[in-house]
Amino acid sequence: MRIVLLGAPGAGKGTQCKNIVAEHDLLHLSSGDILRQERAAGTELGRQAQSYMDSGALVPDEIIIGMMAKAIEKAPASGFVLDGFPRTVNQAIELDKALAEAGLKIDAVLNLEIDDQIVASRMTGRRSCPQCGAVYHIENLKPKTGGLCDHDGTELVQRSDDSLEVVAHRLETYHQQTEPLVDYYKKNGTVYDFDADKGVDEVRASIFEKLATLGKTCSADAVSN
Ligand code: AP5
Repeated sequence: MRIVLLGAPGAGKGTQCKNIVAEHDLLHLSSGDILRQERAAGTELGRQAQSYMDSGALVPDEIIIGMMAKAIEKAPASGFVLDGFPRTVNQAIELDKALAEAGLKIDAVLNLEIDDQIVASRMTGRRSCPQCGAVYHIENLKPKTGGLCDHDGTELVQRSDDSLEVVAHRLETYHQQTEPLVDYYKKNGTVYDFDADKGVDEVRASIFEKLATLGKTCSADAVSN
């Protein structure tokens, strides 16, 4: 199964992706995580992306599309979940073209809908593990031992682009450049909307319910093909 997760910053894409891949044996491909790894490794790509990420703007398509094409090539036959990519209609068109060349397509777009008012508190309260990427929240999803990752005990950190000022710009960028993707994908009839204002477990349950029905549809397609 090949899935795209759409949603504003803080909608819970990363949080829900981790649940989905654990349950469905899919590869989690987060464009934001890949960019942060490139930055941490001091690569040319990471250097080019830095100023855009720090200001809350999108990294140019010509950098992102090649980077994600390489990442997708490594996905297993079971499929992948894309988190944060595509983020412009142009990126979606290029993704569709690349998949079509391999005889593949996106099976489902999961659209996490969230109120802008909720985003700010989610982002400023987010903490993540620099070692394994696990994501927490100081109120909603606390680690078991204050400030340390449940999985490897590493000290949790706050992302530099999670300040109120940068979050406001990221939201603006989302509404202008990424939200039009919902209509792009709705033309193909593959979009499923979820109320992401709800708690983590409730959102997860509704996504899993939908994926269970889609899994059956996808296997039926495979048999009929
Ligand atoms: P990226 O890393 O993709 O950031 P984002 O889209 O802004 O999304 P986030 O990771 O901030 O939020 P999320 O939806 O994953 O929420 P999370 O699950 O962590 O991109 C960063 C930058 O990289 C961009 O600004 C851009 O510059 C660049 N970039 C990346 N991809 C690009 C592309 N394709 N093209 C161009 N540029 C690109 O949850 C947030 C918090 O809320 C957590 O603390 C979590 O515990 C909590 N939480 C989650 N769900 C719930 C819930 N249901 N209830 C309560 N709390 C919750």
